[in-house]
Amino acid sequence: MITVEIAQDELLSNIESKIPLLILDIRAKDSYMQGHVPGAANAICDSMQQKQIIMSKIPQNMRIILIDDDGTIAKENATMMARFGFDAHYLKDGMKSWNKETVKSAQDTTVSGDTLWSYIKQNEDVFLLDVREPQEYAEFKIPGAVNIPLSRLFMPGSQSEIPKDRKIVTICSHGNRSMVATFALAQSGIEATSLVGGMALWNQVLNATTFKENDITIIQVEKIGKGCLSHIVGSNGEAVVIDPTYPASKYVEFAQKEGLKIAKVIDTHQHADHVSAAKELAQTTGAKLYFSKLEEYKIESEKVEDGNTIPFGTKQLRAIHTPGHTAGSMSYVLDDKYVFSGDILFVEGIGRPDLRDQVEEYATKLYDTLHNKMLKFSDSTKVFPTHHGEGVKPSENGIYYTTVGMAKKIPLLDLDQQGFVSKVVSITTPRPMNYSMIIKINRGVIPISPMQIPDLEMGPNRCSIKM
Ligand SMILES: [Fe+2]
Repeated sequence: MITVEIAQDELLSNIESKIPLLILDIRAKDSYMQGHVPGAANAICDSMQQKQIIMSKIPQNMRIILIDDDGTIAKENATMMARFGFDAHYLKDGMKSWNKETVKSAQDTTVSGDTLWSYIKQNEDVFLLDVREPQEYAEFKIPGAVNIPLSRLFMPGSQSEIPKDRKIVTICSHGNRSMVATFALAQSGIEATSLVGGMALWNQVLNATTFKENDITIIQVEKIGKGCLSHIVGSNGEAVVIDPTYPASKYVEFAQKEGLKIAKVIDTHQHADHVSAAKELAQTTGAKLYFSKLEEYKIESEKVEDGNTIPFGTKQLRAIHTPGHTAGSMSYVLDDKYVFSGDILFVEGIGRPDLRDQVEEYATKLYDTLHNKMLKFSDSTKVFPTHHGEGVKPSENGIYYTTVGMAKKIPLLDLDQQGFVSKVVSITTPRPMNYSMIIKINRGVIPISPMQIPDLEMGPNRCSIKM
């Protein structure tokens, strides 16, 4: 029989002896923050599955001491961990009988994506510690994050580059490794906060920036992890939403803040990089849903073709058929001053043909769309795309847009048709694996639960191509 119980004097001597030790306080976050054993990390697992994932990330050579309120739940968990081969113990009688020093936590043990985004937006001094493997980090990261893989974090000396006087947020793919990272840091006396849901939920954070000009309101909504852009376009209290992403409920909140009621919802084209929230947003708001007539959907909607108009408030959006990214892509024009271009024209480049097996045919259509439709608007026309690439900065007002005048300077648009097509064919990269699945969902062929969306969408967007 393994002895898992440990008395407080033994715990103190373990701490002083500097043996590899993880002290895990499994009480509720508030109790932990009010006072815990020095060096203890807060460990809360919601499910057996999460417990198993967390355990698989903890080095087996460390002694683990679990602490709860009275020793009952900690005993059960320590016994289970001992059966899995860990040198696991629990503090006898828990915190209720602890009469030695305790420390309070100055920072929360977990942080949501929305809260982390508010820190970043307000330029708060946050050290972002990404504990995924280097190839995961290279693929897709929060700008400014420093990479130290979790496996290295337990090695002596690996924590020297981590500041002790800054707010630290640990990041991984789903919030498990980042939690274990807080355990590793706690034993060195470094407090850290784990990003809940990791990069998967980070991808679901939406940021709204409002732009007002003349008598229109444009709320640009950015899915900050992926650079997807969507727009709530308002006139006289009524709004059209173009290309909404999940979570759909956020659009209602953003529109309400500007005194707008969502009356229409549009997808410019069948998206392949993110799950469209158009259907859900239309259903929950009672708004009319519009899709391109030239694309196949198994979702009931109004069908849009070239020249159709969609009225809202005192304005109307005019549809123009702009094929090339997909065959049925529509762009929407407002007052001949603003164009919502979907994935045809971006701030930094142009849309990629979405069907790689017909890339030449699509590149030819794209050339025609760009030169004979988009660039025919006046140079001052503002173009609002559905994405921006990594590293692209918004304009001074925080909005991502370009103008027709600026778009004319995109190097690919200098080429003649033949040069353009062969260049586009040569630089169009294969689509990520999950694209065909996302297309089927957006077409309405296969259902999806909102819970599955973060994992499906994880990763960078690769919609734009540039020279
Ligand atoms: Fe697209």
